[in-house]
Amino acid sequence: MEWFMIFVSVAVLWFASLCKILHASFYPHRSSFLNNAGSLQKRNVLFVIAHPDDESMFFSPTINQLTSRGHNVHILCMSTGNADGMGNVRKEELLRASATLKVPIQQVTVMDHPDFQDGFGKIWNTSLLSKIVEKKIHDHAIDIIITFDNYGVSGHCNHHDVHHGVRRFMLDTSQQEIEAWELVSTNIIRKYSGPVDIWFSLWSAQTYSNGQTHCLLNENPRRSYAAMSQHLSQWV
Ligand SMILES: *[C@@H]1O[C@H](CO)[C@@H](O)[C@H](O)[C@H]1NC(C)=O
Repeated sequence: MEWFMIFVSVAVLWFASLCKILHASFYPHRSSFLNNAGSLQKRNVLFVIAHPDDESMFFSPTINQLTSRGHNVHILCMSTGNADGMGNVRKEELLRASATLKVPIQQVTVMDHPDFQDGFGKIWNTSLLSKIVEKKIHDHAIDIIITFDNYGVSGHCNHHDVHHGVRRFMLDTSQQEIEAWELVSTNIIRKYSGPVDIWFSLWSAQTYSNGQTHCLLNENPRRSYAAMSQHLSQWV
């Protein structure tokens, strides 16, 4: 009987969390990320990712927030994700997912460079990566970069190398006005708590509004799901 009550409680909590997520309009807090004092300044934001689907799986809450506020989003994907020979398919999927996320596909670049091939144990040249980022920034007057943190959500070495390439760029560049932000990897309990994490996220969003860290709540989870569903080759 006790076990049954625990099971019911968990199921109710899970369901309530899901409802909370799907009713994003109930969120009491709107993040001030790139939204300082209602400033109307539109920024050119570059997401630097490692593989097609990173944008939907990891960055779509941020992309949703930025596009809904009229910022101009670019995506630089460092590989086609060809570890299983599906690179061409995955590249197309990325373009479709970007369109779903309201990122114009002419602002999406998918690299297919011998030094940046998808896979565990493939070390990416961070100084070359930094040069590629530099060119992108220059060509599109980018003023904000968003990428992985040192752990890179899943611990994938390509995510880690992307982080270090962007870091290298930030250390080398003389352009003082460029900002870089990293996506903070959450601990394993939060990562696998599914929708239940929303309560912790809501709490963080209230607590961490110090200008250094922002907790963004996904304002359009349906759109994120629609973007992820473009990556059919990854639904395994
Ligand atoms: C990495 O890239 C830099 C800059 O393009 C190049 O000079 C260097 O030789 C490369 N390093 C390796 C190990 O390939």
